[in-house]
Amino acid sequence: MVRRARVSDPSVGASVAAPQPDGGLFHTRYASLARNTIDYWMLPDDPEMTERRVWSAIERAPRLADASLQVYVHVPFCAQRCRFCAFSGGNTLDFKQAERYTRLVALQVRDLLERTQMKGHPIRSINIGGGSPDLVGSHIDYLLRALRDLPGCTDDTEVAVEFTLSTVSRAFIDALARYHVTKASFGVQTLDTKVRGYMRQPRSLRHLERVLDWIDGRVPVVNADLITGLPGQNLRTAQRDLQELMDDPRINCISSYLLTPAAAPSLLAGLATGDLPPTASAPEQALMRLHTYGTLQRSGWIRRGTNTYVRTDGLDPRILARLAGNECIGASHYEAFLIAAGPQAISYLPGARVENAVNIDRWLTAMEAGEHPFHLPKCSDLAQRDTALWAFPLRWEGLSQARFDRMRTSNAITGTQLETLAGLEREGLVVHSSKGYELSLLGEVFMGHLVHDLKQDAGRQAVDDYVEEGHVLGKAISAGSVVDSNRANDRQVTLSLLNAGRPTDG
Ligand SMILES: C[S@@+](CC[C@H](N)C(=O)[O-])C[C@H]1O[C@@H](n2cnc3c(N)ncnc32)[C@H](O)[C@@H]1O
Ligand code: SF4
Repeated sequence: MVRRARVSDPSVGASVAAPQPDGGLFHTRYASLARNTIDYWMLPDDPEMTERRVWSAIERAPRLADASLQVYVHVPFCAQRCRFCAFSGGNTLDFKQAERYTRLVALQVRDLLERTQMKGHPIRSINIGGGSPDLVGSHIDYLLRALRDLPGCTDDTEVAVEFTLSTVSRAFIDALARYHVTKASFGVQTLDTKVRGYMRQPRSLRHLERVLDWIDGRVPVVNADLITGLPGQNLRTAQRDLQELMDDPRINCISSYLLTPAAAPSLLAGLATGDLPPTASAPEQALMRLHTYGTLQRSGWIRRGTNTYVRTDGLDPRILARLAGNECIGASHYEAFLIAAGPQAISYLPGARVENAVNIDRWLTAMEAGEHPFHLPKCSDLAQRDTALWAFPLRWEGLSQARFDRMRTSNAITGTQLETLAGLEREGLVVHSSKGYELSLLGEVFMGHLVHDLKQDAGRQAVDDYVEEGHVLGKAISAGSVVDSNRANDRQVTLSLLNAGRPTDG
């Protein structure tokens, strides 16, 4: 069991916020931004879960009308230890294992896919993310070829690849162009040199210039990630970051994330010890989000992902149509299949959540022994039939009226959830038309809260537990009982050692 500590974060353990039109930010019920924007698909741990149940859920996941198929491949290599990073848990600096890794990860994707009822169904998108996929070097050729050879991969499949600016090589960019990758994505986070330093990011931005020149015109969608809410950041620096990227003709896609501190214990520890300057106040953070979405929309960029906007002029409409907009790496609705391979990757199928082990050595050893390295307590075979309701704030498509009506008639959503939705609509966070439900601009600012509030109790509890775990780890790092390394964020291991009272080097 995870040790539970009382933490001061007001969102931890809170149930759905009651409307307080005069007390909240922008006259909403919310007094702060959500502390979590990433792990929405969790349910509470199931200590009784077995491998047999996991496989049964995978094999029995029904291929329903409206089924869609997406693939995610995680590459857990990083040459950096960025302090804000939610994906650093278990990332290895030992990227010499790249050949072995690419071979096994391609095997896991194919094997999982072949054991589902979606085998051969057209694949909507393939995402290679990380970590730093560029650290597989020349083995990217093998990986892209293996993924392109999957049954169901067609000329309409979106192929998106992430890389890290400071480690990517020209040869890697050449491979992306050669394999007709449709979207390339990299993190900038902020252009502010001071904040970059706090986050253990290279201060210099010469990599950005160089990579943009290499890639210009060779991959149709070029995406840069930004974050708001970092220590030391304010509205002025956030405005400047966004404007500079929007003004660059080589960038036509921007993802702007709200910092999820709970996913970055090292950052929480730095805030606790005073090593890092504080984050901006809640009203200023909300203004950063409002400014970001408002500026992008006013300038004609369109939403194509959880936090992603695209500049469409000059973009081939066929490429735009292929953009799945799934950078949040979770299934969009109950019928959807997301097959995910690699350490830390999580698959979602109708009636199944399948989480892999975070630790790469454990993952490699199991794969070589012909086993799939699942982390059983975090796997689930419960049917979350209301997924489309609480996931729609994350989705650029919104929630169509037809899907909503189907969910209602099949009793997939409760009366309480319907009341919550109606309340959000009254507050102007959600807009309802004959087409269905979508977020207003204000709704985008509070999207994390909306997802949380639209869930049922168990789902909300899982998110709250996750936030709390992040604080427990942050405290342990600041107290010196966990060493601040990439592995400190491997919750599958670090928390259990901590709970057993054993010191851990993470
Ligand atoms: C999977 S990471 C990989 C990025 C890539 N390795 C790089 O450094 O450019 C993708 C993006 O997630 C976002 N991200 C990572 N940790 C986050 C956190 N704790 N809160 C919000 N966004 C985060 C960052 O914008 C990052 O660029
Ligand atoms: S942000 Fe840093 S630590 Fe996170 S995946 Fe990218 S390079 Fe690795």
